[in-house]
Amino acid sequence: MKGVESSEDGFSQEAGQTTGQSLTQKAESGEKAEVCPQVASARLQSSTFLNCKELANFAIPMVADGSKGSKVRMQIRANSAQILDNVAAPLKEEMTVVDVDLGDRSYPIYIGKGLLNQPELLQKHVHGKKVLIVTNVTIAPLYLSRVIAALKDGGNNVEVESVLLPDGEQHKSMEVLMKVYDKAIETRMDRRCTFIALGGGVIGDMCGYAAASYLRGVNFIQIPTTLMAQVDSSVGGKTGVNHPLGKNMIGAFYQPECVLVDTETLDTLPDRELASGVAEVIKYGLIRDAEFFEWQEGNMERVLARDTSALVYAIKRSCENKADVVAADEKEAGLRATLNLGHTFGHAIETGTGYGNWLHGEAVGAGTIMAADMSLRLGWIDEDLFKRIFSITKRAKLPLEPPPSMDVQSFKSIMAVDKKVADGALRLILLKGPLGNCVFTADYDVKALEDTLRHFCKS
Ligand SMILES: NC(=O)c1ccc[n+]([C@@H]2O[C@H](COP(=O)([O-])OP(=O)(O)OC[C@H]3O[C@@H](n4cnc5c(N)ncnc54)[C@H](O)[C@@H]3O)[C@@H](O)[C@H]2O)c1
Ligand SMILES: [Zn+2]
Repeated sequence: MKGVESSEDGFSQEAGQTTGQSLTQKAESGEKAEVCPQVASARLQSSTFLNCKELANFAIPMVADGSKGSKVRMQIRANSAQILDNVAAPLKEEMTVVDVDLGDRSYPIYIGKGLLNQPELLQKHVHGKKVLIVTNVTIAPLYLSRVIAALKDGGNNVEVESVLLPDGEQHKSMEVLMKVYDKAIETRMDRRCTFIALGGGVIGDMCGYAAASYLRGVNFIQIPTTLMAQVDSSVGGKTGVNHPLGKNMIGAFYQPECVLVDTETLDTLPDRELASGVAEVIKYGLIRDAEFFEWQEGNMERVLARDTSALVYAIKRSCENKADVVAADEKEAGLRATLNLGHTFGHAIETGTGYGNWLHGEAVGAGTIMAADMSLRLGWIDEDLFKRIFSITKRAKLPLEPPPSMDVQSFKSIMAVDKKVADGALRLILLKGPLGNCVFTADYDVKALEDTLRHFCKS
């Protein structure tokens, strides 16, 4: 699909600089641990439910990692005696919670392995007696019955309907969205019903928009099943569908009641899709969280191997960063635009190659290398940082350059209609200063942009 491009993650009106520190300094100190001073001193910023064995495994990496986030709180809901009794308990008790702080629209993000087996998590966010699960034909055979079972567990009196959409970005359309409204009306979903998005970013964006508009807004829960959705699209309330003339052109800001991330769902995700999500994880480190980037440098292979504690940590920290940004700038007046590092170049690649050929995260990976190259040419970052960005992207098995079919002219013509163009000047998110700092600006030497495009394109 070609035409006017809306930035995937939206666009913004103002230039400005952001640092990793500015918002996280606002983190609040929380409750103290009843057990294990090691963990307490780690300033673990999540609600964590652990048995003793897990505690031993969990405490040490968390101490080493340090941690930061939108809210700092910690609960270990067991006394020492209970912990000893629980040594052989299954891992499902471990859970991390990140809060998205939006006043009376605040919500929790639950993160952990096997959370779909904890029915109370879902049930407490379903207010009415009717639920509509929106999913697709690929995900339904894998996870739909588990979600229905969780909703009905313990004889819970709730009527559950589901609608299965075709799979793929090309189906993120008004036409396919109508199937959700059709099902909702046919099954008499009322004002107190809950819509549940079960799937990746496509399903999350579509179900969210359906929930925002059906009966002028109904309760909504996100169960993201791709890494991309777990670290990015399910958090922050951007919902919508594509128009034939442009991506994500129709939509609404609409926040969910909760986001439930069961990392076990990533077991069935193809490697290429996993790597695509890692591109957004790398982004958070580069734009505002140097420590997280350093952690990735030490743990990238564990993430790609789907090691549970590495995945939980990467998702938690990504969500904390996104939650911080969204809490400060929900409707994208400025700061939120920095989440688009690498996306302007990336969107040009997605559009130029035709949607679906390159995954979004793959285009963002190559786009981030291009943004870093331009930042280096401007003298805004040093060569060492560029090399580190190149190396982590390579280790994540993401593309390091645009496809040969992209030439300078196609980049220019696609980027010229980017929504971040203001008064004829293209605003870009570029890296500036030490690791973890970026700017959103039109104030750069255009020669650097020209040189970057020439460097990466054959013609
Ligand atoms: N709202 C936002 O802030 C935001 C941010 C980033 C991206 N997005 C949107 O997200 C979409 C991309 O999301 P995505 O990368 O998740 O793509 P996707 O939703 O198309 O999912 C990728 C593929 O993986 C399959 N899949 C999903 N979960 C699976 C699982 N557990 N096991 C096996 N297969 C599984 C899907 O069926 C699909 O084929 C784009 O439409 C983009 O615009 C939105
Ligand atoms: Zn993105």
